[in-house]
Amino acid sequence: MSVHSEIKRVTTHTLQKMKERGEKISMLTAYDYSFTKIFDEAGIDILLIGDSASNVIAGHETTLPITLDQMIFLASSVVRAARRCFVICDLPFGTYQGNSKEALNSSIRIMKESGAHAVKLEGGAEVCESIARIVSAGIPVMGHLGLTPQSIYQFGTYSVRAKEEAEAELLIRNAHAVQEAGAFSLVLEKIPAALGKRVAEELKIPVIGIGAGMHVDGQVLVMHDMLGITKDFSPRFLRRYLNLYDEIKAAAGQYIADVKSKDFPNEQEQY
Ligand code: KIV
Repeated sequence: MSVHSEIKRVTTHTLQKMKERGEKISMLTAYDYSFTKIFDEAGIDILLIGDSASNVIAGHETTLPITLDQMIFLASSVVRAARRCFVICDLPFGTYQGNSKEALNSSIRIMKESGAHAVKLEGGAEVCESIARIVSAGIPVMGHLGLTPQSIYQFGTYSVRAKEEAEAELLIRNAHAVQEAGAFSLVLEKIPAALGKRVAEELKIPVIGIGAGMHVDGQVLVMHDMLGITKDFSPRFLRRYLNLYDEIKAAAGQYIADVKSKDFPNEQEQY
């Protein structure tokens, strides 16, 4: 959709204004055309092509294996259906860490080849040079602190982060650093609600939480989790709006039974 068409596209400016007037920002992950069309029509503000695709789409145990080419393929599918929402694509593991030139090149590939509107990356002070460099090329960047799944082998577990004072203070310093580097927004994952509140109050940019409590500026969930397509993942922060795993399984079971019993197709369902 062009910026001149009838539906008004959500932009970084829209999101900043939402924070300023206290309007909560809604964000979900999406990985394909068909679900994006539904979420966009429902009025979602932001869709993220998360590297959680590595888990929920590709079936890997962690987010580490997914590649830049794979993320670009998924993001381009999302972009084709997203008419109103702002579309952000994760920079996958190994495409930005430790090298701001590579971070910029990876971001440029995402923007050029998928048509996404922004990129997201994980980390604090150590990625600020990359954030500044990407932003200097005109690409909006979203940061991600707290539980950062690309560092899972360093953390060792997916448990709540920054419960101790020292880690909380470090997270606050990193949040400010990410903002100063030019990020337009920040995701906080799985941290105490009081810390989420403090960061959202201290930062000027919108802070989006996943397991960061009710006081941040918006919420994000992984679509497979909130739709109940995943079954064995039940963190406290997850609200399931559907139980699609069981519903789809029942539908598939019924279809199989109908085929086997020769009930499908019937007279009306053939040419
Ligand atoms: O990859 C992802 O889905 C994410 C969200 C959990 C924020 O980064």
